[in-house]
Amino acid sequence: MDYKIAIHKIKIIISKSTNILNDIVEFLYKNFEKYNWIGIYIVKGNDLILGPWYGKQATEHTQIPIGKGICGSAAKTGKTEIIPDVNTDSRYLACFFSTKSEIVVPIKKDGKILGEIDIDSDIKNAFSSDDKKFLEKIADMLSMHI
Ligand code: SME
Repeated sequence: MDYKIAIHKIKIIISKSTNILNDIVEFLYKNFEKYNWIGIYIVKGNDLILGPWYGKQATEHTQIPIGKGICGSAAKTGKTEIIPDVNTDSRYLACFFSTKSEIVVPIKKDGKILGEIDIDSDIKNAFSSDDKKFLEKIADMLSMHI
């Protein structure tokens, strides 16, 4: 789906949904073929706790200490992480055998990191600067609803 159309649809979901995080994760999973697993982690104390997710399999990483893995790194720095090939990043915490690349986008409000969007792809180098911009915009919209 075109990113601009998706943003428009996401705005509608946010205005109508009673379960925003879940519905956004579902929307992204169903409309972007290369997004093979999507989850939202929420910061609680020194950990990230997995909230809504969509994908073929559940992950064993439902609680990740801040600073650990790709997810924990993004939560520590507040910066988006794009990993074109997960097998070459020593921080990577493996979840699925099929995952080749990953993007993690922090959700921030007033400089505080509230959580993050984590997406795994079965395709190497799946995430472009357009995905980054798109997902950072969504993270911004979600920051009001966490
Ligand atoms: N790969 C992540 C862990 C979460 S799973 O991808 C769902 C990481 O390295 O932090």
